[in-house]
Amino acid sequence: MAHIIDGKKKAQEIRATIKAQVDELKHQGKRIPGLAVIIVGDDPASRIYVSNKRKACEDVGFFSVNHDLTRDTSNEDLLMLIAKLNNDPNIDGILVQLPLPSHINAEKVLEAIRPDKDVDGFHPYNIGKLMQRNPLLRPCTPKGIMTLLQSVVDTFKGKHAVIVGASNIVGRPMLMELLLAGSTVTTCHRFTKDLSDHVARADIVVAAVGKPYFIKGNWLKQGAIVIDVGINRLEDGRIVGDVDFDTALTKASYITPVPGGVGPMTIATLLENTLFACEHLHNKA
Ligand code: GUN
Repeated sequence: MAHIIDGKKKAQEIRATIKAQVDELKHQGKRIPGLAVIIVGDDPASRIYVSNKRKACEDVGFFSVNHDLTRDTSNEDLLMLIAKLNNDPNIDGILVQLPLPSHINAEKVLEAIRPDKDVDGFHPYNIGKLMQRNPLLRPCTPKGIMTLLQSVVDTFKGKHAVIVGASNIVGRPMLMELLLAGSTVTTCHRFTKDLSDHVARADIVVAAVGKPYFIKGNWLKQGAIVIDVGINRLEDGRIVGDVDFDTALTKASYITPVPGGVGPMTIATLLENTLFACEHLHNKA
């Protein structure tokens, strides 16, 4: 039977450490980290993610600024807001929740964020730094997954990791993180043939597909470590992952649950990135 990797507990530990660091900054009379979270439109799932991020900021004592923009916000208005936040000395991190409405040029928006305030790590500068083995601000979900994996693997070297999903937010930066750590990495995606054969060779499986129960337990190598990034809502309202959890339990050595696995780590890592930007990129003196 697999051990469950408790992402909720690990995230709470990280949040408690960050809160203590913020208390210390306050005690020393220093500026506290500031995060601006922007959401455009009213996608219900995005609203929940954003309100969780904002609450996490307030819990650790960050300065948190909310910008809730209507669906019909123009590219110009969004870019003007980002320019203002780029120049605001109390703001260390700017997060624009994705996806954006289709009339917004998401690429332009992400590139408008100052790379040293890009706490999501999506700016081409930060992605390029990660690619070139010198990461600065690293995408939150893959970085949070690395934190979880580090608590259960002795080494990444010599391990074969298989990532299922090649998105800009998870699959691609995950590939670079695991490669940087020394694993041999295979990225699978919608055009991959014989997916189950690839998964069967994996010591580490990262599932980021967005389809409930897509990865079956009997595909796994005995003892594989399974990281489930999926957050899928079923018709009955239940939230389930991309991995068929019950069948995977008998094959995996470790597995993340949904909910309570990767999700809380994404938020804890966002807080880590914002504190890092404050202390090492802005309050250097
Ligand atoms: N949408 C889904 N995941 C994320 C994330 O990590 N950051 C942002 N900004 N949007 C997302």
